[in-house]
Amino acid sequence: MYKQLIKPVLFLFDPEKVHDFIFFFIRFSFKIPFVNFIIKKIYTQENLLLERNLWGIKFKNPIGLAAGFDKDADLYKELSSFGFGFIEIGTITPLPQKGNPKKRLFRIKEENAIINRMGFNNKGVDSVIKRLKSKNKIIIGGNIGKNKNTPNNNAINDYNFCFNSLFPYVDYFAVNVSSPNTPNLRELQDKKPLKKILVSLINLNSKKKKRKPILLKISPDLNQNQLSDIVDLIINLKLDGIIATNTSVDRSKINSNNIIKNEKGGLSGKPIYDRSNEVIKFISKKSKNKFPIIGVGGIHSAKDAINKIKAGASLVQIYTGFIYEGPSLIKKINKEIINQNN
Ligand SMILES: Cc1cc2nc3c(=O)[nH]c(=O)nc-3n(C[C@H](O)[C@H](O)[C@H](O)COP(=O)(O)O)c2cc1C
Repeated sequence: MYKQLIKPVLFLFDPEKVHDFIFFFIRFSFKIPFVNFIIKKIYTQENLLLERNLWGIKFKNPIGLAAGFDKDADLYKELSSFGFGFIEIGTITPLPQKGNPKKRLFRIKEENAIINRMGFNNKGVDSVIKRLKSKNKIIIGGNIGKNKNTPNNNAINDYNFCFNSLFPYVDYFAVNVSSPNTPNLRELQDKKPLKKILVSLINLNSKKKKRKPILLKISPDLNQNQLSDIVDLIINLKLDGIIATNTSVDRSKINSNNIIKNEKGGLSGKPIYDRSNEVIKFISKKSKNKFPIIGVGGIHSAKDAINKIKAGASLVQIYTGFIYEGPSLIKKINKEIINQNN
């Protein structure tokens, strides 16, 4: 129904306006008695074969909602009823910020792709915490970043601040140094600054009563040497894992001549699927599977998700596929995982 009826109508309108409308609509609908119950009944798949235990956390299933969809933790409870095993909120920065000027979100329909240059628009960490205080059993990842106005040599303070503030409310952390839409952010993926940030977060973590997993979210545009350095660093520091990958600035996998491909920003969806899988394969081989990988990038079918797991991912996440395929994609993937394990 989504692909035949709902998507064609939604896709007539501006993507960011549709996103805001969907948030409003879902929040409103879930106030109606039984809607939550019905949505859960339709979309949730429960089975012991889906459960994953990682970092001492029990995930009901391995399919997560990727960062950027519910940046401000406005809708994570309702979204969890669509069958996700976990939801990553953010990217959150210490202070609220508006992000880049609109228009900043584009669809390339014929490629099943999105280009975004949102620029970490978010309400800031204090606002997000308010909504996380009533979180129940849903597994939440806190994706953290730096404010645009914070120079890279002070970035460490922003990551530390977000980490400490969110610590009581999230189950794991994703350190985002890989968005192409905050100027120079991706330079923080270089060995030296990256090590500084990660060591600092690991130190903060070790002072807590019970530490929480910290994962690094990386770009698909890193070359083999950069990836190798990152894998070595993760192993040396005993970081908990990698999220691969964020969006890409590379447009070479877009076949159509649609001029939207020239828009600045990060590309997501089908065109980044192969590259994201290559990155996952490289990391799992190089690290000899020493740490878990969350695989994300271009999952639009159950087969895509299964192949990402085969490439080395322990968990997967979806963003663009959720927009193009609709919420039934999550159950389809979970069903296929059960089939493959039976
Ligand atoms: C509109 C949009 C906003 C995003 N915002 C963030 C973000 O704030 N932080 C982040 O780490 N990733 C962000 N992402 C990247 C996704 O989390 C994901 O890594 C990427 O889109 C690849 O997955 P996909 O092909 O399933 O969309 C965003 C993606 C999109 C499409």
